[in-house]
Amino acid sequence: MQTAAELDVLRNHVKDLTASGETLALVPTMGALHDGHLTLVREARKRADRIAVSIFVNPTQFGPNEDLDAYPRQLEEDSRLLEGEGVDLLWAPRVDAMYPAGFASTIRVAEVSEGFCGAQRPGHFDGVATVVCKLFNQVRPDIALFGEKDWQQLAVIRRMARDLDLSRPHADDIIGVPTVREADGLAMSSRNRYLSQENRAAAATLPRAMQEAIARIRDGQEVLPTLQMLEDELLGAGFERVDYAALADAESLQELEAVQERAMKLLVAARIGGTRLIDNMAV
Ligand code: PAJ
Repeated sequence: MQTAAELDVLRNHVKDLTASGETLALVPTMGALHDGHLTLVREARKRADRIAVSIFVNPTQFGPNEDLDAYPRQLEEDSRLLEGEGVDLLWAPRVDAMYPAGFASTIRVAEVSEGFCGAQRPGHFDGVATVVCKLFNQVRPDIALFGEKDWQQLAVIRRMARDLDLSRPHADDIIGVPTVREADGLAMSSRNRYLSQENRAAAATLPRAMQEAIARIRDGQEVLPTLQMLEDELLGAGFERVDYAALADAESLQELEAVQERAMKLLVAARIGGTRLIDNMAV
């Protein structure tokens, strides 16, 4: 595996890796890799000849009171994991290589980024869209893979690629990979490691209560009281706050108060022991 920390080095490696027309996949990450990330890499392996993974803890997507400083950084261990998966190229730029002095541009994707996590984390999706657009232009992959765990993020990136006519990758080549879960159903996340043992056990209530809510909604029960029950169940299990628990159109992320004849998602963000967990499931 080649590793690049500077843009010119990255470009040379990409050129070499694709010199005979090989296709290239990009898996963007912030590191602290777990099986969710590695599943994206394995999916990339099935779909492209070469795999590039980026590791960059992107400061512009963290709010002033969020966990930028605490976010786990373990480049050596991550590098070993990626090597073991047969990754060809690791792109791990420093902050000043990504945002040199004078950097002044931001991509903002309206509407789809405005509700849910976007409403509670102002500027978060601007930071995500901008860095992902940069990563696309730096690596110029044929395809890019993202986890469905961050459903709103995936919707924002697809919207950006469509709206801006991106070609590498094209919007249709942005691939969503189903959420990878722990044995008790909790979605894998780099932030799960912040949880105490007690809170980690209680956190499994989140996917379980979501499945119960979905069963009720499918059963014809009213949406808003069902969402209220879900909130109450989380608060009863030890979550200190539910940021949102909502039904939404799966693509536009428009919030819905009743079931519709279209793809829908149940989206939840909730805090336990100061850690913010998110999850989503198809309804
Ligand atoms: P990060 O949280 O490191 O996640 C990197 C990728 O892994 C994202 O596409 C995310 O959706 C996916 N992922 C995380 N946990 C997953 C799980 N349990 N199952 C499936 N996929 C999972 O998301 C980011 O980084 C950043 O916002 C980034 C896109 C890299 C831009 O900075």
